[in-house]
Amino acid sequence: MADAPHRVQVEPGGQAFDVEPGETVLDAALRQGVGLHYGCRQGNCSSCKYFLVEGEVDFGKASPYALSEAEREEGYALVCCARPLEDLEIRADSEDDGRSLPVLSPRELASEIAAIEPLTETLYRLRLRLPEPLVYYPGQFVELEIPGRPGEWRAYSIANRDERELEFIVKRLSAGAFSGQVDRLGPGAPLTLRGPFGASYLREGQAPVLLVATGSGLAPLRAMLHSVAQERDTRPILFYYGARTRADLPVESELESLCAELPHLDYRPCLSQPSPACAWEGRTGRVTQAIQREVPDASPYDAYLCGAPEMCDAVGRLLEAKGIDEGHLFFDRFHPAT
Ligand SMILES: Cc1cc2nc3c(=O)[nH]c(=O)nc-3n(C[C@H](O)[C@H](O)[C@H](O)COP(=O)(O)OP(=O)(O)OC[C@H]3O[C@@H](n4cnc5c(N)ncnc54)[C@H](O)[C@@H]3O)c2cc1C
Ligand code: FES
Repeated sequence: MADAPHRVQVEPGGQAFDVEPGETVLDAALRQGVGLHYGCRQGNCSSCKYFLVEGEVDFGKASPYALSEAEREEGYALVCCARPLEDLEIRADSEDDGRSLPVLSPRELASEIAAIEPLTETLYRLRLRLPEPLVYYPGQFVELEIPGRPGEWRAYSIANRDERELEFIVKRLSAGAFSGQVDRLGPGAPLTLRGPFGASYLREGQAPVLLVATGSGLAPLRAMLHSVAQERDTRPILFYYGARTRADLPVESELESLCAELPHLDYRPCLSQPSPACAWEGRTGRVTQAIQREVPDASPYDAYLCGAPEMCDAVGRLLEAKGIDEGHLFFDRFHPAT
């Protein structure tokens, strides 16, 4: 029946939940506090690929890059886009790392812009004041509704640890429906957000942490660093951050202060195009090159890779070749929505 909920059972684990008509499998799972693997929520990253053991789905807007025709035929679906046509049994190819925190069910909130300021030529810091606290884990993201385009949303990672005032680092794209407006939005303007989302949050444990980002990928890692400082967490942290020039490095003085406060934090900025005017004596080249040279054995680390999907995938492959266990690699790929 089209207007009746369908039951979904997840293997391994045997958790089960209902999906309302019109709802995606992932939205229903998050609403009911069931944890599934996922990333972008837009059908672009393939993190939410599950095997359909039983039942048929409407595949929705799954990108052919994230789910090929052959994979559909084999019986795979992306649960962020899939809507059940009957009761389902789904199976994950990879197992949970056993350190997942309880799912925080997302909700929608009306917020107000507190401030917007440029950090570099293209990166802006956006601060949103909330009417009530939003509980989230460091590394999670929310979706912001594009001003003037009701029902259209973009994902932005939370860049700080304050449940009443969220900060974001937004890369401005002049043709961008959301980010193209970021320098024109003013304090006091309303913005609707929904969340929190994301499974690539900082895991607890004693393993050393490897953080890698370029550009606005700094955002979720900054939230993790603020959390580490607040919690007085003493795990060793190796942090590679890639930018083109010195002028493209955001929040430099803040990161230097964090390094002074956290002796176990080793911050390694890498510039891919330093000009003589940069007066740069630090690392040059891409983050992948620096990691290739400087991290002989990745097996002890929990690694968080954030930002451009191509960079995340390249670093992920490199770390796997250097011995990291798949379950200790956490990706936050900033796939474009369009
Ligand atoms: C989980 C997640 C977290 C994210 N977190 C952040 C974050 O913290 N900060 C942040 O700035 N972004 C983040 N993004 C990306 C963000 O959601 C938007 O996709 C991005 O800001 C572009 O949206 P827009 O509306 O401005 O542009 P759109 O109107 O969606 O796109 C305009 C044009 O620009 C192209 N385009 C989109 N992105 C890029 C790009 N990066 N480089 C070049 N061309 C591009 C599009 O294909 C399109 O042609 C995140 C994405 C995901 C999935
Ligand atoms: S493709 Fe489903 S979460 Fe990214």
